[in-house]
Amino acid sequence: MPPRKIIIDTDPGQDDAVAILLALASPDKIEVLGITCVAGNVPLPLTSKNARIVCELAGRPDTRVFAGCDRPLGRDLVTAEHVHGKTGLDGPDLPDPVMPLQDQHAVDFIVDTLRAHAPGTVTLCPLGPLTNIAMAFEKAPDIIERVAGIVLMGGAYFEVGNITPAAEFNIYVDPQAANIVFKSGAPLTVMPLDVTHKALVTKPRNDAFRALGNAVGVAVSQMTDFFERYDKEKYGSAGAPLHDPCVTAYLIAPDLFSGRFINVEIETRSELTMGMTVADWWRVSGRAPNATFMGDVDADGFFALLTERLARL
Ligand code: BDR
Ligand code: CA
Repeated sequence: MPPRKIIIDTDPGQDDAVAILLALASPDKIEVLGITCVAGNVPLPLTSKNARIVCELAGRPDTRVFAGCDRPLGRDLVTAEHVHGKTGLDGPDLPDPVMPLQDQHAVDFIVDTLRAHAPGTVTLCPLGPLTNIAMAFEKAPDIIERVAGIVLMGGAYFEVGNITPAAEFNIYVDPQAANIVFKSGAPLTVMPLDVTHKALVTKPRNDAFRALGNAVGVAVSQMTDFFERYDKEKYGSAGAPLHDPCVTAYLIAPDLFSGRFINVEIETRSELTMGMTVADWWRVSGRAPNATFMGDVDADGFFALLTERLARL
């Protein structure tokens, strides 16, 4: 099979960074057409800088990086420096990027790319708030049926929320955008906290990154060292959850994940539960399924894949 063509839409973020590295380490499976940045973990100027830092770390300064929306569709931006640090990529000491940011707006790149490729050949991989994707769908509804699939990190059901008691960060930041995407009819595969909280960087897994013997391995271990202090304190968990790499790992090895094709709706009105992914896991609503909502991951297989792939960079 030829490599799957994807657009990564992202707000790096240490875990976004690892997701991007995994994709760039896997040209046999994944062709990254471009990386589109959105405001999320940190404001847009930082996410679009961090994405380029990561491309250069991977030795892929030829990757096209685009800046997109600097705020959610209808709300003030909420950021997550408390998790990711002031730069969004705290941990390793990486040089400022030399590679340029593309002139085109990320939303226009998404629209043009989907129109330029045959229908069903480009997969969207959102790793942050869904603002850019929703804007593209609103601006050019004709592209929706051209999307091969959307594989995204966001939401939660059994794990409920990480930014409010009810909501996961990416969906909470822009629930209106998430609502547009979840209602769009495009084939959706969702990696919620239910899965990503099982993908924990334990000490042996972190040691394995550091032992890879390349700059990427050291940087990834420093990123996860930084990132884990928050989750360890909050959940008492064994290490940092690698949320976003679940998306790119799924493209390479889908059998590592299991879930259900169910109805998932987004709460956009209640302040109390704003951004909640109301997932009909038990199929009690009678509403039509619109998403494959993952529930489990083979964590050892996931880390074996990640470590083996990152060694290639
Ligand atoms: C998601 O929020 C961000 O902090 C992470 O990068 C991930 O995409 C997890 O809730
Ligand atoms: Ca992210």
